[in-house]
Amino acid sequence: MNILLAGGLGYIGSHIAVSLLENGHDVIIADDLSNSKIEVVDSIKKITNKEFKFYNADLKYIEKVEKIFAENKIDGVIHLAGYKAVGESCQQPLMYYENNLITTINLLKCMRKYGVDLILFSSSATVYKASNTMPLTEADELGPCNPYGRTKYFIEEMLKDEVASGSNIRAIILRYFNPIGAHESGLLGDDPNGIPNNLLPYISRVVTGKLEVLSVFGNDYPTPDGTGVRDYIHVVDLADAHLKAIDYMQKNKDIKIDFFNIGTGKGYSVLNIVDAYNKVCGGKVKYKIVARRSGDVAELYANPAKANKILNWHAKYDIEEMCASSYNYENKKDAK
Ligand code: WQD
Repeated sequence: MNILLAGGLGYIGSHIAVSLLENGHDVIIADDLSNSKIEVVDSIKKITNKEFKFYNADLKYIEKVEKIFAENKIDGVIHLAGYKAVGESCQQPLMYYENNLITTINLLKCMRKYGVDLILFSSSATVYKASNTMPLTEADELGPCNPYGRTKYFIEEMLKDEVASGSNIRAIILRYFNPIGAHESGLLGDDPNGIPNNLLPYISRVVTGKLEVLSVFGNDYPTPDGTGVRDYIHVVDLADAHLKAIDYMQKNKDIKIDFFNIGTGKGYSVLNIVDAYNKVCGGKVKYKIVARRSGDVAELYANPAKANKILNWHAKYDIEEMCASSYNYENKKDAK
């Protein structure tokens, strides 16, 4: 298939690009470089030895989206173009609503106009209500608690409405848990600008001496060791879920819309991650316990049974492999 990857140079998009190219698909990447780097184009080409078209385009502008659809024969869209920082979304909610929603509306309008019927949307575990019991299934109650999560939720609703309207559009929605890790080549990984908000890039920078010490946000949660528990999923396993999802929609044309949790089903605490990282780097993770971070929940992990069964997708990498790949990426980046 010829797939438009909207937001395809980002951390997750770049790994999906590699998986698609290595599995016989063609890709067109559109990205505005607001949270990604142009060098990623070369990294994807180097890993796959394949060529693809890249558009430096902000998809909030319909004419930019229109140009991509007019110039290419697109069979499906994987939509990852969006801002993703929870804290920033609380400070600048309108920027989040404008960017994440308008980009989606523009993609859907062009899909209708050019007869493209398949969209895969990158959603998040944050769409679920915090009061649900773990593990989360796709049938659990939705109710995000920050603007970022609400953009994901509204886009899911928009897709439901668009599908229900009788248009030809079919949608598959993947709700990611906590993607971590990096490509085995060390050429692609999570490289946020400034001080990282997320746990793994923060630890990687502590281990390689760029940051002093990890602050563990709270050790008084009702969890086995008191620190927050999450469902960490290797980004390469996550990318593979996209391939399986596309395949599923191709083989089951009667499916108009479906939703899947993409996690391993296993919860790890912050201190479990510190231990796993220490094993791969030789015990260099300095940490201190500080107060809880506002907005954090004690535990969040998936029941991935639906994706396991229906998509025939299974996470392959364990937590030490995830940490080892992050460490490898951080070291290779430094060596450049
Ligand atoms: C993980 C755990 C922290 C940093 C967020 C978004 C989610 C998704 C993934 C999407 C928590 C603890 C963290 C640190 C720490 N984003 N922690 N010290 O908050 O589960 O999910 O990222 O694009 O939508 O909400 O991920 O990596 O920030 O935190 O102790 O310096 O690590 O409290 O328990 P989170 P995270």
